[in-house]
Amino acid sequence: MTKDLLGLKGLAADQITEILDAAVEMKKIISQGAKKMPHLLGKSVVTLFYENSTRTRVSFENAAKFMSANCSSISVATSSVQKGETLIDTGQNLDALLTDVIIIRHPVAGAPQLLAKNVHAAVINAGDGANEHPTQALLDMYTMRERFGRIDGLKVAICGDIKFSRVARSNIWGLTRLGASVTVCAPKTLLPLGIEKMGVRVESDPERAVDGADVVMGLRIQTERQKGGMFPSIAEYAEFFGVDSAVMQKAAPHALVMHPGPVNRGIEMTSAVIDAPNSVILDQVTNGVAVRMAVLFLLTRK
Ligand code: CP
Repeated sequence: MTKDLLGLKGLAADQITEILDAAVEMKKIISQGAKKMPHLLGKSVVTLFYENSTRTRVSFENAAKFMSANCSSISVATSSVQKGETLIDTGQNLDALLTDVIIIRHPVAGAPQLLAKNVHAAVINAGDGANEHPTQALLDMYTMRERFGRIDGLKVAICGDIKFSRVARSNIWGLTRLGASVTVCAPKTLLPLGIEKMGVRVESDPERAVDGADVVMGLRIQTERQKGGMFPSIAEYAEFFGVDSAVMQKAAPHALVMHPGPVNRGIEMTSAVIDAPNSVILDQVTNGVAVRMAVLFLLTRK
């Protein structure tokens, strides 16, 4: 591992596999009910979130605590960021507070890279703008590999707001590097220009996109990053681009339903799809703890 985990774009297949393999061992431990291991004893971990989160933040904090780290959480709304402190100054003060790992979520793409260049602590990107969310894609790949025993050769359809999704980008980098075929599906207004150059197939019809897919992943519309006007109405988006039970009929019979959360029921996916027996959305959340334990362990081991 390098000093930081900033994205999957720059990781080789064997580096991704190393993390997934370590997560298998972590999952074995937590599956036995163990919630206090010594792997991070004496280490200090800080979560620094400039955007809202439920899953990622709690998952990182539980992962750190399960491995005996000292874990602090900075809520930007009540921190000295509100008094005008810069990101670099905040990071260097966390260094001065003897922090070993800073986990950052920021609305600006590239913020974790800037922080990583200016601090001694290891930096983990927990989501930067529409750029990357590497641990989400790692837990998604972990969940696929756990179910299918492999990533190579899987057909994965990602349906939803591709343009503003850091989850889509990290999954595309990671899945294609490990040999999966990825199809993305969205209205043209929600597809970034030149997305084909990332090695994906592009569809605007959900039934064609999921045809024969092993995995169907839904993505929320990132209204907080859009200026609006991307489609006429939510109702029309749901009707023409949402994944419902009829769309799922086109996927492989064994297809998994995945979603990084938070879900907006009835928009990108119907409740019938989200709650179906083949949905692994909550397994993804549980696997996120094991994956983040693995990342914290690999970045801090000497
Ligand atoms: N998947 C994900 O990043 O969820 P949160 O925004 O709740 O962290």
